[in-house]
Amino acid sequence: MVGYKSKLVEQIRLPSRAQRERALEEAGYNVFNLPSDDVFVDLLTDSGTGAMSDEQWAALIRGDESYAGSRSFEELESAVEEVMGFERVVPAHQGRGAENVLYGTLVSEGDVVPNNTHFDTTRAHIANQGAEPVDCPVDDATDPDAEGPFKGNFSIERARAVVDEYGAERVPVVVQTITNNSTAGQPVSVENTRRVREFADEIGATFVIDACRFAENAYFVTQREAEFSDVSVAAVAREQLPLADALVMSGKKDALSNAGGFVATDDERLYERCKQRAILYEGFPTYGGMAGRDVAAMAVGLREAVDEAYVADRVEQIQELASMLESVGVPMYTPAGGHAVYLDAGALFSHLDPEQFPGQALVCELYREGGVRGVELGRFAFPGTDRPELVRLAVPRRMYHREHLEHVAETAAAVLERREEVSGLEIVSEPEMEEIRHFTATLEPI
Ligand code: F0G
Repeated sequence: MVGYKSKLVEQIRLPSRAQRERALEEAGYNVFNLPSDDVFVDLLTDSGTGAMSDEQWAALIRGDESYAGSRSFEELESAVEEVMGFERVVPAHQGRGAENVLYGTLVSEGDVVPNNTHFDTTRAHIANQGAEPVDCPVDDATDPDAEGPFKGNFSIERARAVVDEYGAERVPVVVQTITNNSTAGQPVSVENTRRVREFADEIGATFVIDACRFAENAYFVTQREAEFSDVSVAAVAREQLPLADALVMSGKKDALSNAGGFVATDDERLYERCKQRAILYEGFPTYGGMAGRDVAAMAVGLREAVDEAYVADRVEQIQELASMLESVGVPMYTPAGGHAVYLDAGALFSHLDPEQFPGQALVCELYREGGVRGVELGRFAFPGTDRPELVRLAVPRRMYHREHLEHVAETAAAVLERREEVSGLEIVSEPEMEEIRHFTATLEPI
């Protein structure tokens, strides 16, 4: 059993309905354009938005801002070794900085990179190298109603088909993302990671784990994988992560920090190459684009993330939100993910055509109804695909309480009540790069 008491508070307010209407209109029906002061419960992302612990704040004060040889970096190295099992660390300003360092080193033009499901920034960095990112999810990954303990797994069969098509020499890297953010935050079993290890060996590829949410994944493993039912979360992480040749990490997720990221490896040559690229893009390899104090706070957060009581509380809070939403009849992807609940807007607004962006309509209605901010992950964010029309409600770590979750469930129930009245949206303006249009495009109701 774990709980939190407040040492510092931040007031939040729910703007009046008229203010919310106006804010939504001024934002062009795109919640990325809303000022955060106008948001009551912010479930846009779990990335860098959580509350740091008193120990992390203490570490901030003690952070060493030396350009080279920072003590805070040594603390990070020792935390990464202890928690994740890798000896060499190249820090970066956040996860995508680490992706640039690692994939810029490993991937070349014409390559093909399989991943259980690429997260947006991963996909973009692979594509930026002139390579092709290929998703290899398991069959039931995109079925919101299929029950399954590890719907985030990597499909070896699909990856093998990729290798058969392109040839092993064009597949230098295989990536496994745990948990699988783009597949509704679903976990990956240790057994599946072992199989990816074997597969990478078979084709002579480097095996990379995107470890952003490794602790949440390890918690699911202790709950759902028989071999690990009596094993601690920390021990699962130490078993699963070192199966890879390298990790790419965003400290903004399971290192419980507001900033930061890193690459970790035991491969001396890869480490040296990453270090050189990091100097170009991130900074000297003992700070990597972060302030020394942020490096120090990340080192503390990494250890806290595998604390059994913390991580159980974390994942169970998401499950609590899911069961509140289920009890009011809101359709959603099952089972709930480790960091978020994904609402099924296609089922909720079955009267709307996918071209009318039912997911974005739901995002707008949640804000209009209760000042709740989520994010669309359907056809608005992923144009030209036939992904399910999901809306992600990502819960920041250690920040909200039961009353906030109840507010979210009541808000969703009120939207459900008047679903027939909700109209779709059309795009008014969008940027040139279609892949990132959801961040800045503006829309209006049809
Ligand atoms: N990999 C995964 C699986 C992620 O979820 C993210 C970020 C990144 C890499 C990039 O890390 O943001 O530190 O540069 N996901 C956030 C989200 C933005 O909202 O899911 P970053």
